[in-house]
This record gives sequence, C-alpha cells and structure tokens, in this order.
Amino acid sequence: MTQDDMKKAVAAAALEEIRGQIHADSVIGIGTGSTANHFIDQLAALKGKFRATVASSEASAERLRGHGIEVIDLNDVKELPFYIDGADEANLQLALVKGGGAALTREKIVAACAKEFICIADESKAVETLGKFPIPVEVIPMARNYVMRKLEKLGGRPVYREGVITDNGNIILDVHGLNITDPKAMEIEMNSIVGVVTNGIFACRSADLLLLASPTGVRRLS
Ligand code: 5RP
Repeated sequence: MTQDDMKKAVAAAALEEIRGQIHADSVIGIGTGSTANHFIDQLAALKGKFRATVASSEASAERLRGHGIEVIDLNDVKELPFYIDGADEANLQLALVKGGGAALTREKIVAACAKEFICIADESKAVETLGKFPIPVEVIPMARNYVMRKLEKLGGRPVYREGVITDNGNIILDVHGLNITDPKAMEIEMNSIVGVVTNGIFACRSADLLLLASPTGVRRLS
C-alpha cells in the first residue's frame, strides 16, 4: 500500500464519519493538501446531500468548484458542523503542525469556526513530539527579518520559503530545530511576535478526531 493509497483510505473514512450526520443545510469546512484533495474528490459523491462548503485555500476552492460543489464565504455561514483537513504532524493529544501547503491561516480560521475538526493523515504524520517538521509561520512581508531574529531567540532556525506568497499576500518562514514539549505555550509565544499572522502549531484548537491510516486500516483517535 502506497502513502497515496493510505491518504485515499483515510479520506474515505472521513466521508463515512460525516455521511450520517450531514443534512441539506450543512456547510462543510474543507482543508488543503493532497489528503484533503482526496477528500474533496470523494465528497463529490455526496453532492446534493449538503448545502455547500467553505474552503481553506483558493486551490481547494477551485478543486471543489471543479466537481460542481458550491463554495461560499465563511462570513455567510452561521454553523460549520465539520472541518476536514490533513496535517504535517500529529501527536497523541491531537495537537498538529500544519501549513506545509502555506494555507495555515485560513485553515486555522475555518478550524476555529467548526464544531468538529476531523484530521485525516497517514501514519507517517504521527509523532511523539511536534517540531521535526519545520513549523510554518505566516509573516507580513516587511516584518520578515525582525520576526526571524525573534524566532531565533526562541531557539529555532527560521528559513524563508522562497517564491511562496500565501493567499493572504504574506510570506512563510519555516522554523527548524524546535523540540516542542509544550505546543500550546509555543503556539501562543510565536503568535505574540509582532508581524506574525499565524503559526502552524494547532494546539490551542487541536483536532477533535484524528483518523490515521496505516496499511492495516484506519485508526480513530479522539
Ligand atoms: C496545508 C496543510 C496540509 O494539511 C498539510 O501540509 C498536509 O498535506 P498533505 O495532505 O499533502 O500531506 O497544512 O497548508
């Protein structure tokens, strides 16, 4: 079984998870990345059984529309029963690292609005301690060097992600070398640096359910 097969399988498990709980008025939050793309492709089978979606990136919105699935503005939504998205790392407390695809800010906003955040990942994303995957930080462009100096003081080694501009017009710094033993504290500390828009630690609002695919099946962690 390839990693992509596991991504497909976990996307299918998420679809089964929500299938019986959505109705004609439901608006579903949709994440970004290759695992989320599999979910989008499979969600097309449920078209007509929910009202619309809210997307965490322009790329996901385009893919959803390509399937004829309506994408609406988050500001036009009162209730979001589910947000389904992948992750770059997940620990057993369901804290995550996200933003490998540079969509972390919108992902964090949609996750914050959702009643249930279902994280879908293959087993390679499961870790004991977050931080091996460099932590993506979205930064206002003029603050780049200032924020880099502050991140170095936190013990990290920030690297400018060349050639990437987020959907919000900002840049990404990837912070290497952090061993994150207290994800909530690190999330809050990074957010307090002026010029940081968001960081990719999802601990203050972690996942509610982690579906983790391996060659032997999909585990459910909550
Ligand atoms: C995008 C993300 C993705 O969820 C994360 O990068 C995982 O991607 P993939 O499903 O392709 O492994 O946070 O910003």
